[in-house]
Amino acid sequence: MSMKLPAFTPAQESLFLTLGGRALDSRLPHPFLGDTMADEIITKAGYDLARFPSLTTKFLDQRSRVFDIAVRAKTLDDLVRRFISDHPDAVVLDLGVGLDTRMFRIDPPLTVGWYDIDFPEVMGLRARVVPPRAGAHGIGADLTDPDWLEGVPGSRPAMIVADGLIAFLNQDGFVSLLNRLTRHFPSGELAFNLYTRNAIWALKHLSSMAVIADGVVNPGFDNPRQPERWVGGLKLVEEIFLTRAPEVAGLPLLLRATARLAAPSARLSRLIGTVVVRYRF
Ligand SMILES: C[S@@+](CC[C@H](N)C(=O)[O-])C[C@H]1O[C@@H](n2cnc3c(N)ncnc32)[C@H](O)[C@@H]1O
Repeated sequence: MSMKLPAFTPAQESLFLTLGGRALDSRLPHPFLGDTMADEIITKAGYDLARFPSLTTKFLDQRSRVFDIAVRAKTLDDLVRRFISDHPDAVVLDLGVGLDTRMFRIDPPLTVGWYDIDFPEVMGLRARVVPPRAGAHGIGADLTDPDWLEGVPGSRPAMIVADGLIAFLNQDGFVSLLNRLTRHFPSGELAFNLYTRNAIWALKHLSSMAVIADGVVNPGFDNPRQPERWVGGLKLVEEIFLTRAPEVAGLPLLLRATARLAAPSARLSRLIGTVVVRYRF
């Protein structure tokens, strides 16, 4: 029998879109990410994925429906892995973690301190469906609240990752969060998926995203260098276009051809596909 889920706000409910995408990916014969834990968790929670028609539509095949969610998680995982291998004493912060089990996928050494942060309501559900793990710390907080970072050691290099979060932070909250994070740690990296202004428009207006539209409050930005102007000392290191990902080869012909046509152009790649950005501070 599935469990009784808390009444979530649209921003909080968005966690089921990404979790659902990874769960459906794991059911593919040749998954992009292969996170079977995501499937176990969504089954345990009993969430109805039909609330996100983009995951269940019959007009797209399953690989196309999950590509962006699964491959962006994989891309962010790889960035975290690389940082940890260079900094075994790192702290990792997964901002807006939802029910993601990135730590289980990455399996960091015990020298790494891992912090998962989301609203208290979400962390409450997380405690019921995600098994505990040595080295993992959960923080239930609104990320725009200035105090939650006090519980995170500020003397070690930090890898800060945010998968699917930024759309749900208002502009002032986002910019002040970035400034607090970069002041708190001596050095580190920050990686997240970019929401362009078009992507934000789509999230707010596509009927397939109606469940979360009211939670989308960030205006989005098209220039990946924009955060350098908001935060002193932040430097863009890399912009990763999923149109150029090797996993494109696993897409059906039409989407594969579209991605390959767009891939040479950064502007087109930002327009039609997911982009992951990595900064250093
Ligand atoms: C699209 S979901 C992504 C969840 C997870 N990163 C994943 O990939 O499955 C966005 C998450 O950000 C969280 N979130 C949004 N605004 C937040 C805030 N101000 N403070 C804490 N968490 C927030 C939501 O609760 C939700 O879990």
